[in-house]
Amino acid sequence: MHRFTSIEVVVLFIWLLWWPKVESQIYNPQWEPARALDATLQEYAYRAFVHPRTGIPFDGIIPPYLTGIEVSAMRLRSGSLFHRGVQTFKEFRIPVGLREQPYVERLVMVYHNLGNWSTTYYTLPGYTYLTPVLGLLAYNGSDLSATNLPELDMWASDEAIIIKFGKISTIPDGLVAKCVWFDLHGQVNFTNLESGNECWTFEQGHFSIVVENDAPTVPAPHVPVPPAPPEAPAPSSRTKKNHSMVWAMVGSISGGIALLVLLGLLILWAWRYKKRKRMRELERAADAGEALRMTRVGSMRAPFALSTRTMPNLEHDFSV
Ligand SMILES: *[C@@H]1O[C@H](CO)[C@@H](O)[C@H](O)[C@H]1NC(C)=O
Ligand SMILES: *[C@@H]1O[C@H](CO)[C@@H](O)[C@H](O)[C@H]1NC(C)=O
Ligand SMILES: *[C@@H]1O[C@H](CO)[C@@H](O)[C@H](O)[C@H]1NC(C)=O
Repeated sequence: MHRFTSIEVVVLFIWLLWWPKVESQIYNPQWEPARALDATLQEYAYRAFVHPRTGIPFDGIIPPYLTGIEVSAMRLRSGSLFHRGVQTFKEFRIPVGLREQPYVERLVMVYHNLGNWSTTYYTLPGYTYLTPVLGLLAYNGSDLSATNLPELDMWASDEAIIIKFGKISTIPDGLVAKCVWFDLHGQVNFTNLESGNECWTFEQGHFSIVVENDAPTVPAPHVPVPPAPPEAPAPSSRTKKNHSMVWAMVGSISGGIALLVLLGLLILWAWRYKKRKRMRELERAADAGEALRMTRVGSMRAPFALSTRTMPNLEHDFSV
């Protein structure tokens, strides 16, 4: 059986102290499906580069369970992107002055059109989408077989990136259409629509045009809830709250179990440590010439010093 050294116990303790903090940083149940989809789409977009050429959009092939979504990828040299921008990449126009952090020599812009999956992954209660949700994300373009790449931090340092939406659903009378931007951390921001069907942004993320639902004038939107794909399940708007509650419960229960296990390990370690210490003392005593005999203590056989100095008194005390 594995014996825990004191270093291991200290490491476990530090991990235990940090654990809730780490968990709260990476854990946002509501945002998970959309981020998992980003990772899946990065992989399928990169597969489109069979004969990679710089500055040309390549459309990716989407797995059947995500039919309705489009991806495209364009590989660019950072330097030329910064100096020239990209006139058109699907609905996006990328101006000069685009920067990324950390710096990479080559980057890949991945484009998403979530089509009829928009409301599944980007639920926005109280609003109706007038266009599909479009995404633009930047990745390190050095290794085109890489998966699970983190997004680069990308921003327009001069002019805004322009998203020129093609056809947009008619804006209901009396309502004002707005641009919505979802950043990579789940932050939602609304900005004004420009020139009828354009949205401007200085950062990457997902974009669409929405109108706020006004209960008396606009009928409630019908949001279809398709079965979630196996790799990137998306909870429906109705069960989302329940889901996060369930996740929170699962989280706290497994946290509690982990805590108990750790506590158990600690007690075990302390007990073993105490036992070893006593054994060593007894061995030392044996070396010093004292006689040892084996005694049964419960189910455990342990050597005890045949001591004539203290034991009789103790036994006497307890038997009274
Ligand atoms: C989107 O449409 C495709 C067919 O074009 C269908 O297979 C898919 O299930 C639809 N997705 C959703 C979320 O409705
Ligand atoms: C980009 O990817 C290449 C190849 O995997 C790697 O060597 C390089 O460090 C990466 N750059 C950054 C900034 O992560
Ligand atoms: C986005 O909205 C949040 C509040 O919802 C605000 O704190 C933040 O500054 C906004 N970011 C931008 C870039 O407008």
